[in-house]
Amino acid sequence: MKNILVTGGSGFIGSNFVRLCLEKVPACRLINLDKLTYAGNPGNLLDVADDFRYRFVHGDICDASLVGQLFQEEKIDTVIHFAAESHVDRSIEGPAEFIQTNIVGTFTLLEAARKAWKLDNNEKSVTGDDEAVTESSPRFLHVSTDEVYGSLGETGLFEETTPYDPRSPYSASKASSDHLVSAYYHTYGLPILMTNCSNNYGPFQFPEKLIPLIINNALNSKDLPVYGDGKNVRDWLYVVDHCTAIIKVLQNGKVGETYNVGGNSEKQNIEVVQTICDILDEKVAPLESGEVRRSLIKFVKDRAGHDRRYAIDASKLKNELGWEPSVDFNDGIRMTIDWYLDNTEWISAVIDGSYQDYYDKLYGER
Ligand SMILES: NC(=O)c1ccc[n+]([C@@H]2O[C@H](COP(=O)([O-])OP(=O)(O)OC[C@H]3O[C@@H](n4cnc5c(N)ncnc54)[C@H](O)[C@@H]3O)[C@@H](O)[C@H]2O)c1
Repeated sequence: MKNILVTGGSGFIGSNFVRLCLEKVPACRLINLDKLTYAGNPGNLLDVADDFRYRFVHGDICDASLVGQLFQEEKIDTVIHFAAESHVDRSIEGPAEFIQTNIVGTFTLLEAARKAWKLDNNEKSVTGDDEAVTESSPRFLHVSTDEVYGSLGETGLFEETTPYDPRSPYSASKASSDHLVSAYYHTYGLPILMTNCSNNYGPFQFPEKLIPLIINNALNSKDLPVYGDGKNVRDWLYVVDHCTAIIKVLQNGKVGETYNVGGNSEKQNIEVVQTICDILDEKVAPLESGEVRRSLIKFVKDRAGHDRRYAIDASKLKNELGWEPSVDFNDGIRMTIDWYLDNTEWISAVIDGSYQDYYDKLYGER
């Protein structure tokens, strides 16, 4: 039985992960520590709230005493660290929360793991030697992003060895947390694993991110804002594929290693937006104006420091652990649109803010 601390399990990827992990890994207990910021939605996990293997803890990863207490009380042997401030535009408006949660929060978790797993200074310094690590050994899996590598030109792919070159406060804070995680491996022998993943899409994504924003606006005849010339490229990955990659890395990854995770699915933002418009024109009632939904597209002033192109080389994960994405973009985007069409209650609750009431319904007043 693994006792897994999942941080940020009420967010987009975390909630998809909790659901998948409970399904695929029967011998696990999951403790979801989440602060429930605007991005955390207890309604994302209504279907597993009563599972006896699942416990929700409302709290902040920066709270060292709470985190330390959880490690002791739940005998945590595995950490899957998702919790973060994750939206680039918000990091440009106000970086402070990003520094606090993404850097200080990660540091707090690393310290708690180091203490709980009794790794004292240098005693178990590995520097490339992980002989002592066994299948039952603890693991700290840090979930990170390809944005730490900066921006690509027309060609080339990010590899695990690509030098870090973050450009936004978000990516800089994630890069900083990655360096701390790596330092705890080299200095203290903390059994870490790291994944750097491309852009995710799928069910339960907060509608400030491109795909759910466009779906929601296009359904409601609102403008569809596209930054700059719309030709920025992202490598899109269906969220459940990201979660299967995390389980694979957790179970079979080599301690101390980083694995890039990508979808082999490069698309310009404008292509993504046009695809959503066309699928919605096909599936739902036309706009009142009679025009196609592409007519709602509005090019807006580019985001400051907007990286031009991201693309991932995920061959290490494929060659060493046998993982490949199973959902291609054409299928994944249709599945995602269908999910938003079938879950209008979820999206309305997020838009009107009532999603935060799910907490009281599930766990009583805060
Ligand atoms: N979304 C992507 O495309 C993508 C791609 C690669 C990597 N990632 C990484 O994956 C992780 C999850 O991303 P996401 O899109 O699900 O994010 P999200 O914003 O949807 O969810 C973040 C979750 O963390 C929680 N949280 C925030 N601050 C916290 C704190 N101080 N203490 C406890 N909980 C806190 C929030 O309440 C929320 O539930 C992040 O680390 C992100 O950097 C995301």
